[in-house]
Amino acid sequence: MENKKILVLDFGSTYNQDIVRKVRNLGVYSELIDYDTKASDLALDKDILGLILTGSPRSVNDKDAFSMDPEIFNMGIPVLGICYGMQLMAHQLGGKVEKMNFAEEGLVELTADSDQNLYTNNERVFMHHGDHVTVLPDGFTNYAYTDKTVNALMINKEKNLFGTQFHPEKDESDVLDNFVNKICGGQNTWTMENYVEMQTKLIQDQIQGDQVILALSGGVDSAVVAALLHHAIGDQLVCIFVDHGLMRKYEPEQVVEVFGNHFKINLIKVDAQDRFLGKLAGVDDPEQKRKIIGNEFIEVFNDETKKLEEAKWLAQGTIYSDVIESGTSKTGKLVKSHHNVGGLPEDMKFKLVEPVRSLFKDEVRELGLVLGLPEHIVHRQPFPGPGLGIRVLGDITREKVRIVQDSDYILRDEMKIAGLERKVWQYFTVLTGLKSVGVKNNERTYDYTLAIRGVNSVDGMSAEWARIPYEVLDTVSKRILKEVEGINRIVYDITSKPPATIEWE
Ligand code: XMP
Repeated sequence: MENKKILVLDFGSTYNQDIVRKVRNLGVYSELIDYDTKASDLALDKDILGLILTGSPRSVNDKDAFSMDPEIFNMGIPVLGICYGMQLMAHQLGGKVEKMNFAEEGLVELTADSDQNLYTNNERVFMHHGDHVTVLPDGFTNYAYTDKTVNALMINKEKNLFGTQFHPEKDESDVLDNFVNKICGGQNTWTMENYVEMQTKLIQDQIQGDQVILALSGGVDSAVVAALLHHAIGDQLVCIFVDHGLMRKYEPEQVVEVFGNHFKINLIKVDAQDRFLGKLAGVDDPEQKRKIIGNEFIEVFNDETKKLEEAKWLAQGTIYSDVIESGTSKTGKLVKSHHNVGGLPEDMKFKLVEPVRSLFKDEVRELGLVLGLPEHIVHRQPFPGPGLGIRVLGDITREKVRIVQDSDYILRDEMKIAGLERKVWQYFTVLTGLKSVGVKNNERTYDYTLAIRGVNSVDGMSAEWARIPYEVLDTVSKRILKEVEGINRIVYDITSKPPATIEWE
């Protein structure tokens, strides 16, 4: 299968991922590349249909402005510059860019000439700029303007160069659709079915007859990687599932059912509950708990892999946002601080295979469905690597874990009944260490307080507490108090992130 693509030169705008997503949604594979990629390197890749230059927090007139290889403009490949991308194109090709008296922000009317095929649907466009192009470079014509911006859409038809002062990744204009499909000739080749076909071949070529090990966590990413690798190399894949005793209720059984029984994947289930809970006994410091769980996971995993002498490869469920967020970009992106328990040390003697590295989370889910994984795995809500270990505040005992498992199960059950299962991003229960006085059957009780937490978020970096209806909370509360031993009071967490975090530890 051809892997036709549109590459996006990353100048550091916060909207960059939106460009990649939108292009993929238009049916063409896309990814971010460094802004200083050389024309000679790009020329080696015959599958490039077009290039997009992103916006940037900088100005092209700054001393430390990001510039690009000007040879790229002579390659004959269509190039679309967005905001800073347009200004850089103008700047590097002999035009002029100046600071505006007033910045232009938000959705605005655009008046466009119809003698061009880039912007044709008359929607308002999204502006976010303080600089503008005041002199067009030779060979360019301006085709649109707004109240504040004279040159809002410049094109050099002969050289296939395009620039929009606005951000088509943030508005309803048809600019990206026209660029991708009409100007670059995209043909809807980016589908998950094609991805499976393409990756299967790549994986088979890469792995040959070797054995591959994968740590299966029950989470979406590793589950999809398991299904994909199994599809590609069958029995050469061995999955190791470490049951640390801190999973949600029935989850270990589900992992065995889906991957072992249904997919018939080589699955090694390690029952390490005693090992983990033993090490955690009496430890109440949250960081210490995380460390113990993380280290213990690595030890258990190492013990198991030593037995698999033939294995040469380690598969990981790294996804595109991990790649972008881990700070490799030259424009300096945010570094995500969470490392999953599945995060393995770098000195392991394996070669790495990461077959979903280029996919966004929603694409990973779609891929999972195409590969036949059940909905409850594909749409599983985010779950922290240290598991319920950080939802039992303070020291962990089996009894406390049981309380969280049972109450969490009831919460999820009632959210499903209420049709809210996928409408709230993440929800769970937390066993606070607090005990308070209550009354049951006319007797005084002194039992634990349980907290319910529900949040809406896009990526977990910030979150709004979820307005779960009172009726649902009421049913959940009554059921937990009736069915789960050890609780006499339930509270709902009404803090957003920041200032609180999503998890309590
Ligand atoms: P916080 O509590 O930091 O959580 O607001 C943000 C999101 O990350 C999840 N989380 C983790 N995920 N390993 C993970 O893989 C961890 O150690 C970890 N801690 C928190 C949390 O569930 C939420 O979705």
